Amino acid sequence: MSSVATARLLPAEETTPAPCADTRPVKLRVTGVSVSFRMEGVQRTVLEGINLECREGEFICLLGPSGCGKSTLLNVIGGFLTPTQGQVLIDGQPVTGPDPRRIFVFQERGVFPWLTVEGNIGFGLQHLPAEQRRQRIAHYVEMVGLRGFERAYPSELSGGMKQRLEVARALAVNPDMLYLDESFGALDYITRHTMRRELLRLWTTEKKTILFVTHDIDESVQLADRVVVMSARPGRIQRVVDIDLPHPRDISAPRYLQYRDELLDELGVAHKV
Ligand SMILES: Nc1ncnc2c1ncn2[C@@H]1O[C@H](COP(=O)(O)OP(=O)(O)OP(=O)(O)O)[C@@H](O)[C@H]1O
Ligand SMILES: [Mg+2]
Repeated sequence: MSSVATARLLPAEETTPAPCADTRPVKLRVTGVSVSFRMEGVQRTVLEGINLECREGEFICLLGPSGCGKSTLLNVIGGFLTPTQGQVLIDGQPVTGPDPRRIFVFQERGVFPWLTVEGNIGFGLQHLPAEQRRQRIAHYVEMVGLRGFERAYPSELSGGMKQRLEVARALAVNPDMLYLDESFGALDYITRHTMRRELLRLWTTEKKTILFVTHDIDESVQLADRVVVMSARPGRIQRVVDIDLPHPRDISAPRYLQYRDELLDELGVAHKV
């Protein structure tokens, strides 16, 4: 039997809620979520019957083709969109709107161009006494490798540095959940790899629960505890795959490649081009 056969590869209907030997408390529970939009007089179902459970401290990747509803699902979980049906609970409480304890990270969108690196990281920390605020800013500047650039404006930073700044800004307010929507998609190959490593380091040290939206199979195998594979029109959960590989992950190891091939098959992508 191949080692990948030990991965939990389950049909969607068996993920209600996702069976899990994990004893960590359930952080997020999505139950029966469907979303429909009315467009040009026609009701279109974008998400249908989404059930998902996420444990505290888990790193989950939502993976699927463009338009399958990944951002819509993240918006529902983040409280920006009320689902047509179903419910989202975080720590057992219904999500009724955006919550400052849960932070979104987009590609560059969260960085304020008129504020310096320090100003951006300190933006959500106005309530803290000055010295504590200064220390918190310094801690996150250091953590994301921006020492020496404290007084720089975003226009003076590279794309990768801006992205790290955005992650630092999000983490500085000490959120309990992080939602990342294609956050590294626009970065070049090398910076993307660096950012993934950086995020994993932050995840390990800060122990956040992370939902990471991507359409990049490699990204999902490199990062996730579990990959939630979505299908399109309407968006459904097609498979949930446990990535049973320790970090740091060797991206040329046979088991890594087996997971990647499994997900390529799952998404119907040819292995050869
Ligand atoms: N406010 C809206 N009104 C109408 N249709 C919408 C709205 N938001 C999203 N949709 C539709 O829902 C579907 C899913 O969109 P969504 O942005 O969630 O996809 P996605 O998986 O994030 O795609 P991508 O990978 O390209 O970002 C699309 O067909 C989109 O046109
Ligand atoms: Mg999207």
